[in-house]
Amino acid sequence: MKKLFKINHTSYLIATALTISAVSITACSETEVKAVDRVEEAEALARVKSLESQAAAIKKDMASNPSTKLTVSMPDESTIPDDEFGAAVRRGLQIANHTYKELPDNVGNQLNCTSCHLGNGSEAYAAPWNGMPGIYPIYRSRGGRVNSIQERINGCFERSMNGKALDLGSDDMNAMVSYMSWLSQDLPYGVSPEGRGFVKIDKNLEPNTDNGKKLFAEKCSVCHGENGEGQYNDDSSYVYPAVAG
Ligand code: HEC
Ligand code: HEC
Repeated sequence: MKKLFKINHTSYLIATALTISAVSITACSETEVKAVDRVEEAEALARVKSLESQAAAIKKDMASNPSTKLTVSMPDESTIPDDEFGAAVRRGLQIANHTYKELPDNVGNQLNCTSCHLGNGSEAYAAPWNGMPGIYPIYRSRGGRVNSIQERINGCFERSMNGKALDLGSDDMNAMVSYMSWLSQDLPYGVSPEGRGFVKIDKNLEPNTDNGKKLFAEKCSVCHGENGEGQYNDDSSYVYPAVAG
């Protein structure tokens, strides 16, 4: 399995290199290719290669030493660059925290991404997004095919948010991916961090909906509403967010 992954990856790199040189050759016959473009391409490829070997070393280390952990946290916002990419990162962060307000056509309930992906989508065990752009595309048994990060995001729009998919190439989709990419700056490419996904549910516990209902009425409904519907202001910002929907 591991070996196969490696071979596929190597051939992917070779294919990428070939594609890039093919593009350069075509371009060469028509216009002059700037030497600086070639240098940038070579640098980009070298960077992918070094990230991959870094990831391979960490994977090996993790296998032999389970205490090697990669933690997630939100990088300092001052590291968001002051350019077009930075503007996309900021837009992605804005969408994550105000999804139903920013994208009313795509959200069918009153949830934000961060209603579930806590702490700006960067909290361990609350399905953090750190590292995701280096982990996707991956095969998912739901649907039985390889999913891109954009498709995975749309999975949450369609199911978790009871809404509609965003256009895969839209500015807002690119903003969300840019934000996730910025969140991932301290993680190696292709390695799942500690705290990916949610806390595992203890399957030995017997679910008890009657007890849950009682506890919710006693401790939660005063703010979140009798049926978890939350309380909203006229401008549709929340006083207490919905926890159901
Ligand atoms: C109602 C809760 C909920 C909301 C709202 C929600 N998600 Fe999710 N999301 C989930 C769950 C549950 C998973 C699966 C986590 C797992 O695999 O353990 C998930 C997984 C993901 C993943 C993949 C994480 C991984 O580790 O592979 C991404 C990316 C993601 N969501 C993005 C989004 C974005 C962007 C939004 C807002 C547009 C959003 N989600 C809104 C519940 C939600
Ligand atoms: C005193 C009011 C209050 C009580 C009581 C309360 N909550 Fe909350 N809860 C809030 C507020 C306010 C937020 C939003 C925090 C934020 O914006 O970061 C919140 C957020 C949440 C969220 C995250 C959802 C989101 O959209 O951010 C969940 C889940 C949640 N509460 C569940 C519960 C449960 C379960 C209980 C009972 C055990 C409970 N809460 C009791 C006020 C309350």
